[in-house]
Amino acid sequence: MQTCLLPLFLLLALWPPTASVDAASTVSPLKPICNLTAGTYTADSSYGSNLQDLGVTLARDAGASGFAKASSGEAPDKVYGEVLCRGDYTGTKCTDGLTAAFLDLDMLCLTRSAVVYYDQYMLRFTDDEQSLSSVSNEPEWSADNMNSVKGTEAAEKLLERVVKLMNSMADLATSGSPRSTSQLYATGEAGFGEQGVIAVYGMVQCKLELTGPQCKSCLDSIIGQMRKLFSNDSSQGQPSSFLIGGRLIGVRCNLRYEKELFFEETKDTIKIDMPKSTCCITA
Ligand SMILES: *[C@@H]1O[C@H](CO)[C@@H](O)[C@H](O)[C@H]1NC(C)=O
Ligand SMILES: *[C@@H]1O[C@H](CO)[C@@H](O)[C@H](O)[C@H]1NC(C)=O
Repeated sequence: MQTCLLPLFLLLALWPPTASVDAASTVSPLKPICNLTAGTYTADSSYGSNLQDLGVTLARDAGASGFAKASSGEAPDKVYGEVLCRGDYTGTKCTDGLTAAFLDLDMLCLTRSAVVYYDQYMLRFTDDEQSLSSVSNEPEWSADNMNSVKGTEAAEKLLERVVKLMNSMADLATSGSPRSTSQLYATGEAGFGEQGVIAVYGMVQCKLELTGPQCKSCLDSIIGQMRKLFSNDSSQGQPSSFLIGGRLIGVRCNLRYEKELFFEETKDTIKIDMPKSTCCITA
């Protein structure tokens, strides 16, 4: 008995893990990525208070365009950061979401550098100014919702349909209508009509300081990973299934597709082979 007590005691002493989220927390992240090589800070340190000041500035400024970049404090505790809200998640929604996210930060990471991905926004901070202007989309993170279309023919067809939609949205976001281009954001829908999947809904976005060509090249790269990530095609052969619902998020660009509508449609939403609307049939 005695031999069991110590491990149990240690387990309780270590509980809860630092990544746990308080029950009163207002937002829960999809994925916090704490940079463990960057060292740590404590919430009551000068770095911690500079980070909170930075959060206030970034959350406020992002209300305007969805993107903001700033720094706070003086070296060696100067902190640099940037935030991005989804193109249809703007204004006070963006500001309020990010405000809550910064207040919760010390429950996620106490590293001096981190990236946190949320459903409708992301934040990133570091003490190393250089790393914010890195040309890499890393750290990338992907997730899927586990439902899939099965059978080679259907899987290949859906994959092609989704990639075609993604490419159209990437073109629109980077060289299309003024509204989409000014946000480096586009949404779209494509009809499918097999295995209970009536249509797929998609979105692409880049962080706003990228040029059109930089955004396009980032999107091309993540669209190019879709076959490997979302089908279970082991070789270069044909996929035997394709996941219907997935996202791939990085610090420079991201994409998402689902079988349900998950964004706010606008007149710029691309429509490819959509089934005729059934909204207005009356008895
Ligand atoms: C993590 O921190 C180290 C040290 O500051 C830095 O060199 C590196 O670029 C950071 N990694 C990321 C992904 O920001
Ligand atoms: C791919 O998915 C199909 C259908 O779900 C399954 O039967 C097959 O075993 C999977 N193959 C691999 C390599 O995971």
